[in-house]
This record gives sequence, structure tokens and C-alpha cells, in this order.
Amino acid sequence: MEQEKLDRLLQSRGFIDETIDPGTDLVKEINRLRKEKNAVILSHYYVEGDLQDIADHVGDSLGLAQAAAATDADMIVFVGVHFMAETAKILNPSKKVILPDLKASCSLAEAAPAEEFARFKAKYPDHKVITYINATAALKTMSDVICTSANAKKVVESFPEDEKLIFAPDKNLGNYINNITGRNMVLWDGACIVHEQYSLEKIIDLMDKHPDAEFIAHPECEKPVLMVAKHVGSTTSLLNYVKTSNSNKFIVATESGIFHQMTKACPEKVFIPAPSIDSTCGCNDCFFMKLNTMRKLYLCMKYEQPEIILPEDIILKARLPIERMLEISRQVR
Ligand code: 13P
Ligand code: SF4
Repeated sequence: MEQEKLDRLLQSRGFIDETIDPGTDLVKEINRLRKEKNAVILSHYYVEGDLQDIADHVGDSLGLAQAAAATDADMIVFVGVHFMAETAKILNPSKKVILPDLKASCSLAEAAPAEEFARFKAKYPDHKVITYINATAALKTMSDVICTSANAKKVVESFPEDEKLIFAPDKNLGNYINNITGRNMVLWDGACIVHEQYSLEKIIDLMDKHPDAEFIAHPECEKPVLMVAKHVGSTTSLLNYVKTSNSNKFIVATESGIFHQMTKACPEKVFIPAPSIDSTCGCNDCFFMKLNTMRKLYLCMKYEQPEIILPEDIILKARLPIERMLEISRQVR
């Protein structure tokens, strides 16, 4: 069904408030609104290519948090998922922070409800808490420091070797950091629905078929997958790796949006998505990230909705561990 008819049908059933004139040049309109409202658009590598191309900053979670902390724009438009927009709001309480779709959640953030985590934390009263940025603001308030996949090792190593630590909510990233640092952090049992579905068996078959390819993976993948990877890193790190490697072919275990920047940066190189257990599921796409569209971006900038609203006490408490992370990260890049 063409978009205009679909819009009218959705509007007639009360699912959307407004149709967009099919002749609307969305890129032009978004650019006009950005200027008019002094807005900055921050897009994560996992959203569709057009949403990356229109952004002021495209990056991984750390890069985007740093961009949010540094911006002097009046309005922050976060084209990513909810916890990222929340982090931007915590760093900029006086600014308006909007995102194209409020339902853009994250399986990791959902895997750690605050009340359950509080009960878990109470069992380890002498432990410090390191929380992966993929978590709700409420969880961040219960944390000593936040980390991302780009700086997790550095954040963990900022604690003395004998410090007792809890790592939440990603058990795969936590386990990976335990392995490379020799720590023994207590792990919360959460995982990313995209990164936990890769099939080691199929990856090895693919590596056999393409012996000239390098296999690279995001640390949210499970341990056996990470064990066969030539390089493990955040999305920015994976992107930098393909740019500088002498290899011309890569099997990549992370969300499909990253291929946009990889192909742009290295048009002559070949990028193969790592196969999943279920070959029919389109599992390389993060359902939440893919809720973002150019149409929703346009509408959210026009109406300045949906907006991130957080209670003041949550902002105050969650800000401290995020600022600690930014301080530790100053030397990372
Ligand atoms: P990074 O971009 O920080 O590597 O994180 C990946 C991710 O899953 C974001 O949700
Ligand atoms: Fe969350 Fe995984 Fe989607 Fe990232 S890819 S937003 S960790 S569900």
C-alpha cells in the first residue's frame, strides 16, 4: 500500500494524528526545522542510512553521550533508543530532548527492572556497581559508574584489583571484560536480543568459505562467538578496524546499521553479516533502532514530541555515575 493511503487508513483508525503531504521533501524540512529550532541531531550507527546521513553526529553510545554533553544546541533530537535519549537529558536537564519513537526501547534496559536490581544489589552490600549505559535512568541512580562497550575495560580497571564489583545489565559484555581483565565481577543476567542470536557453527562455516575474511564482533555477543573473533569492539571500534585493516573482506557480528558507514568508508571492501541461528528472522536488525524513520524524525521535530521527561531527583542521582564515566573516558579517545 502506498504511504499516503496507509497514512489515511492509520489516521482514520486513530493510530496517527497527521498525514504528511506526499510531496514533502523530508530532508529539506528536517534541515529547516533544525535551523529554526537550533536543534542538534544525534544518530546511532544502528539506525537506517538516511537517518545517519542527516545527523550532526553519528556515533557509538560513548561518542553520542560525549556529543550530548558538549552541545550548545537548544534541542537535542536523539535518533537511537530511549536509554540514549535519557542519558542526553540527564546531561542536559534544561534542554528539550526528543526522540522519534518513544517505543524505541532496548532488550538490555528492559532486562533489569530497578526494583529487582535493588534486591540483587542488596545481596552484595560491599560491592560497587558498574552499569552498562544500556540501562534505564532508574538503574543508573543505583550505580557507582556507567560504562559503554568502548570504555568498559578502562572503567573496570579504574577500580583497585581487589575491589568487589557488580556489572549490569549485560552478562556477555561483563563476561568478556572479566576474561580480558582477570576480574571476577558478579554479573546481572541480561543480554541483547540482536547479539545473542549469532550461530557459532554457521560463523565457522562462513569463515571456512571465506578464508580471506576477518571475523569481527561486538562484545555484546556470547563468549564462544567472541573467542573466534579477530577483533572485538564497540561499533566505532569495529568501523575503525575495517578502515585500517589490510584485509578486504569482513564477517561482521553486530547490528546491520553499521554496514552503512563501513560501505561508505571502504566502498571497495566486502562486508558479510554474521549468520544467526534462525536464518529467516532478520535478527541482525534491532527492532527498536529500526522504529526510527525519516517521517517520525520530521514529525517529532515539528511538534517537539515525544519528549524525555525525568524527575529531578533521578536526574541528579543518575548524573554522577555518567559524569564519572565521561571523566574516565577523557583519555580513551
Ligand atoms: P555501541 O555503539 O556503544 O558499541 O553500542 C551498541 C549498542 O548495542 C547500542 O545499543
Ligand atoms: Fe539494545 Fe541490542 Fe538494540 Fe543495542 S542492539 S539497542 S543492545 S536491543
